[in-house]
Amino acid sequence: MLDKIFMTATEISPKLKRWLWRRWYQYLAGYRAEFWLFMNYGYAPLDDSSPMLELAEEEEQDRFCIQLYNHVAGRVDLKDVKVLEVGSGRGGGSSFIKRYLAPKTMTGVDFSSKAVDFSNRIHDVEGLTFQQGDAEKLQFDDNSFDAIVNVESSHCYGSVPRFLAQVQRILRPGGHFLFADFRPSEQIDELTSQLQESGLSILEEENISPNVVRALELDSERKRELVKLNFGRVLSKSMQQCVGVKGSTIHQNFDTGVFIYKRFLLQKPTDGTESDDTQSESQPASGAANN
Ligand SMILES: C[S@@+](CC[C@H](N)C(=O)[O-])C[C@H]1O[C@@H](n2cnc3c(N)ncnc32)[C@H](O)[C@@H]1O
Repeated sequence: MLDKIFMTATEISPKLKRWLWRRWYQYLAGYRAEFWLFMNYGYAPLDDSSPMLELAEEEEQDRFCIQLYNHVAGRVDLKDVKVLEVGSGRGGGSSFIKRYLAPKTMTGVDFSSKAVDFSNRIHDVEGLTFQQGDAEKLQFDDNSFDAIVNVESSHCYGSVPRFLAQVQRILRPGGHFLFADFRPSEQIDELTSQLQESGLSILEEENISPNVVRALELDSERKRELVKLNFGRVLSKSMQQCVGVKGSTIHQNFDTGVFIYKRFLLQKPTDGTESDDTQSESQPASGAANN
């Protein structure tokens, strides 16, 4: 039901879409449950023989959500550089990047002030901070970050081109944009065109829908239990849909290609025209498994 409302809103008006998503995430951020650190659909390798990302025991519960971050952000070496995440939610992704991929500083920005307060309270990690901000109007200086991460957030924005113009402005020349999100299949070409026209160069493009489906399936029972325990009966049914348990419309939509989930690695050109692709073949950072 909720997913239908949001997807319909998407087609009606960008303003309505922006407003609805913001209200929704501000509402969700009001849940103070400290175990709840991620809000993405997750990623699982398709091949069981892939090396497993090593995680601390207490992080196992978030394995699939963490693996999505690792797969997206681990494409370039982030060690000792300045990284921004836009749409940081409850902060689990930024915290993972700071602790495992070792950037010098990690800043998370989210539109929801409650999510930012939650993140600053829960994630006490040196060099990691969260602040309130709007993806379409980022308050940072030109050329001020070496890398920008954006995971499963851009579908909420009123204008993706406006967001990409901000990314292009605040990335330093040669800096990387590490991006993943989904769209209804009929909108996926538009997303690709928006990225192509952003002034950044696309170095990698990958359809990760099958990996997302696998993660949803492997994580389904855990999510079902969590929703049952933490949401009242009225909201529980809708939340099962939103988190994408097995058999939900979300799960079926990814499985049947109604929704497509993509990952991109982009780079800001160094001289205004050409990409510096010296890092385009970079391997995942040393702390990250190659999943
Ligand atoms: C599906 S959640 C993903 C959160 C996080 N990336 C994760 O994977 O756990 C989307 C997030 O994008 C944020 N968001 C939506 N519109 C935004 C905007 N215009 N500027 C900044 N953040 C925004 C929401 O508040 C929400 O926290």
